[in-house]
Amino acid sequence: MPDKKYVSIFLEGRKIKVPEGYTVIEALWDTGHDIKRGVGCLSGLCGACAIAYLEPGGKRVKFGLGCQTIVKEGMNITVMPFFPSRTAQYNISQMERPIEKLKEIYPELYMCQSCGFCSVACPEWINVSKVMSFLKSGEYEKATEMMLDCILCGLCASRCPRGIAPQIISLFVQRAVEKERPLPENLKRRLAELEDLKYEELWAEIFKLDENGLREFCEKARKEKD
Ligand code: SF4
Ligand code: SF4
Ligand code: FES
Repeated sequence: MPDKKYVSIFLEGRKIKVPEGYTVIEALWDTGHDIKRGVGCLSGLCGACAIAYLEPGGKRVKFGLGCQTIVKEGMNITVMPFFPSRTAQYNISQMERPIEKLKEIYPELYMCQSCGFCSVACPEWINVSKVMSFLKSGEYEKATEMMLDCILCGLCASRCPRGIAPQIISLFVQRAVEKERPLPENLKRRLAELEDLKYEELWAEIFKLDENGLREFCEKARKEKD
């Protein structure tokens, strides 16, 4: 078996050696460091493992996800703690036209100065500053489409000099836009079936099945579908 290779990095200000090819999270685990904020999916989807790092010779601090960033020789890394963001209280289901309340609920949106610091921090390469511009000008569909890959890591909010939390504002707008979008026909049908308890008896039967019974049931269902 080939010898394991190591790289030296600065993790939370301490110089350590970790196996080459490790992600930042693996390096943290390997060296007994605290995970400040959390680790969830390990797949770049939950946004829990935000980090800030400086590459060797780099002039600018970069941001990313600890579970997706591979350590490099000489890298200087810190794990970002949870960043507090203002979250307004609202009940979207009880609002007639929620999008009309945007200004009232998140007035700070209109303080955005389009500086772009939020975009630079986004590990999903979302042009967050542009999203904010679309929101300010009422182009909500464009804004929500751009935010589809947002994983709510909060890095954009941590960089904003105006104390704005773009991901939180955008979440409200996504909910408001969705509320006004008609439900697809198949979803409407499915919801009606659930309300009518159409599958209750079938579920009761399924819960009684043992492992073999379940296999037979699935096989039969698969054949019927084919
Ligand atoms: S960092 Fe803040 S002020 Fe700057 S563009 Fe983003 S939301 Fe606007
Ligand atoms: S928009 Fe903000 S919260 Fe969403 S992924 Fe980018 S930095 Fe994270
Ligand atoms: S652990 Fe979920 S994005 Fe890294």
